[in-house]
Amino acid sequence: MTGPDDVLLVHGGTPLEGEIRVRGAKNLVPKAMVAALLGHGPSRLRNVPDIRDVRVVRGLLQLHGVTVRPGDEPGELVLDPTYVESANVADIDAHAGSSRIPILLCGPLLHRLGHAFIPGLGGCDIGGRPIDFHFEVLRQFGATIEKREGGQYLEAPQRLRGCKIRLPYPSVGATEQVLLTAVLAEGVTELSNAAVEPEIEDLICVLQKMGAIIAMDTDRTIRITGVDKLGGYNHRALSDRLEAASWASAALATKGNIYVRGAQQRSMMTFLNTYRKVGGAFEIDDEGIRFWHPGGSLNAIALETDVHPGFQTDWQQPLVVALTQAAGLSIVHETVYESRLGFTSALNQMGAHIQLYRECLGGSACRFGQRNFLHSAVVSGPTKLQGSDMVVPDLRGGFSYLIAALAAEGTSRVHGIDLINRGYENFMQKLKDLGANVEMPGGTAA
Ligand code: EPU
Repeated sequence: MTGPDDVLLVHGGTPLEGEIRVRGAKNLVPKAMVAALLGHGPSRLRNVPDIRDVRVVRGLLQLHGVTVRPGDEPGELVLDPTYVESANVADIDAHAGSSRIPILLCGPLLHRLGHAFIPGLGGCDIGGRPIDFHFEVLRQFGATIEKREGGQYLEAPQRLRGCKIRLPYPSVGATEQVLLTAVLAEGVTELSNAAVEPEIEDLICVLQKMGAIIAMDTDRTIRITGVDKLGGYNHRALSDRLEAASWASAALATKGNIYVRGAQQRSMMTFLNTYRKVGGAFEIDDEGIRFWHPGGSLNAIALETDVHPGFQTDWQQPLVVALTQAAGLSIVHETVYESRLGFTSALNQMGAHIQLYRECLGGSACRFGQRNFLHSAVVSGPTKLQGSDMVVPDLRGGFSYLIAALAAEGTSRVHGIDLINRGYENFMQKLKDLGANVEMPGGTAA
């Protein structure tokens, strides 16, 4: 349910222009916070954004006896796991449904306490989001898992043992599960078909600073030699390449010009190539990247999402809004999540022409081709967008609706905007800084 405070009126048609800053990655920071549980001694994490996922993990860690306090510099957290303890199940349960991070507490809690209780998980509704890989991995390390009311209870009767694991798909979460568990397990763990996203590399950097021994091969194999003890870390989180790409897409769709301070070329190379093919312009310096619409018409493209180093699925939804403004037929094949294109129906209501297909369109066949999921799209453009009423469906879909509303003629009402706070720090202020004409019906103009 959304209330009046959760609705944003967007008066479209103004190009977004100016500068915003992105801080640490939403898909790294909460995991680095969990890693602090493994150390003997405090850890310092810098460049931490103020987003809901960080607050949820902070709450969960505090429930388990970790003290979390601000450090000396803005955006710094000091996490001290000296007095880790079991949390009250009812308290943990209160976090049920709020995030997908709790599953990653399993390994660290099993090492520290010998048991763990994990509530039902939340996260965006963009497909089934199963956690079977996670539990299979934990079983291979020697954990037992029992379903209890409101969640899963795990036990490690003995010290967890390193093992050989091959993931059925290079899952980001399952790879992190293995890393956070293997570093203190007895012996060597060999993980093949691992995910190798930049956020995973950064988590590996965190763990190495703590004393872990982790080697990455070029063929998606990660080898972890377990150690007996880890210390704390001092780390500056890599910046949020997904948020940066969202603002880049906003610049393109609104014919604007945005300097994204903190955006990094290295983690965005695939996005930048695609942005250039669509006709977007960018300029990279040491502090960030400027993105803009250079005038003229945009080009239709064929796009396939994939695990890193492919085109990241989280970049897809915001860019699709820009593709509604490109001349010709664009093809989008979503191969990571089976239902990440449902958000396009609201774009069609605004005047876009986007047709969804169950077949794998474009390049290669994916896991979803035979399974009846609407996971390919043909976007035909350019189409004028008109303001409309819409409800935020998920984090990236929600930001995409903001972009569409900003690019549209007239006024839109975007309901459920609070969900965007899960992963976009201070987005209302950023919109204001970029000259967006938006207001809360309750009176707060931004
Ligand atoms: N999968 C399974 N079983 C599992 C785990 C995953 O079948 O046990 C499948 C999923 O259903 C999906 C695929 O594997 O089809 C990939 O899922 P993955 O595990 O890689 O995703 P995740 O770890 O749950 C993280 C990010 C997502 C991002 C994906 C892919 C976090 C908190 N979330 O999710 O971010 O899309 O990796 O890169 O790190 C977002 O930021 O909006 C977001 C959804």
